[in-house]
Amino acid sequence: MAQTTHEADEDTRNRDIRIYVNGDIVHRNEAKVSVYDAGFMLGDGIWEGMRLYQGKWAFFDEHMDRFFNSCKAIDLDVGMDKAGIADALRRTAEANGMTDDVHCRLMLTRGIKDKPFQHPGLSTSGPTLVIIMEHSRPVDRLQTAGIRLASVPQVRGLPHAQDPKLNSHSKLNCIIACLQAEAAGADEALMLDPHGFVNTTNACNFFIVRRGEVWTSTGDYCMNGVTRQKVIDLCLDNGIPVHQKNFSLYEAYGADEAFLTGTFGAQTPVASIDGKKIGNGDRPVTRTIQGMYKDLIKKHVNGAA
Ligand SMILES: Cc1ncc(COP(=O)(O)O)c(C=O)c1O
Repeated sequence: MAQTTHEADEDTRNRDIRIYVNGDIVHRNEAKVSVYDAGFMLGDGIWEGMRLYQGKWAFFDEHMDRFFNSCKAIDLDVGMDKAGIADALRRTAEANGMTDDVHCRLMLTRGIKDKPFQHPGLSTSGPTLVIIMEHSRPVDRLQTAGIRLASVPQVRGLPHAQDPKLNSHSKLNCIIACLQAEAAGADEALMLDPHGFVNTTNACNFFIVRRGEVWTSTGDYCMNGVTRQKVIDLCLDNGIPVHQKNFSLYEAYGADEAFLTGTFGAQTPVASIDGKKIGNGDRPVTRTIQGMYKDLIKKHVNGAA
């Protein structure tokens, strides 16, 4: 059965969550956007995935930097500043009585269009802001079983086509890759860059561990993941050799360990790539990094990082 890095324990409280839609906070069954919305019609929007740990949004500033930068890149007027977003998040969390183990998808689209055509100028009534928060804990099972990846024909594009750094509502590039991986009997896709080097998965950043060194792609064709950067910084601060470099499937197959990073799952071990088992199942470096990341979150929640 296919599994994903975003698999969470079933939580029945999510059936009755309240969702933020342009300032209103309503039951999920009433949370609706127009069929004329640019996000629905064209995938014209930007989103962020964030996690709430003991009442604090992890690495909020970094997420807001990426969010506002992406919106600026596509001339999408957020209509509020960072403090405004923080307030909308606070209201939504309060309405749901949520403080911990919460995942949030913050979505901003160009808003309702006057006519069902592409031109961005047709969205005249301002952006649509939606905040979905769910009670969510990543399943433990993946930590031992690991995720199965398949390399796929769909590649990450060049920045002058659609920059992979844009966390755009249009995820078709990633979705096609994920479908290809599923067709190959894997859980998620390992995507290459236009030159054939290993780049990222369809939903997370990708790392390998070889002979005690941590390697990840140059970052040129992948999402500038907040967790990716935290892992690189943790390695640098703790004397673990880390390299952002080009490498091929040859080196990925022969890695001692591999793991994915993302806000939801933090670090998720990789069991296999293209049916080839990664390492011997012992993951000392991944475990060390997971421990350091947990400590970092603790310090961050206590205001010390
Ligand atoms: C394609 C892709 N890669 C990686 C990530 C992980 O980024 P982060 O660590 O900021 O959650 C995301 C999350 O938005 C993503 O969509």
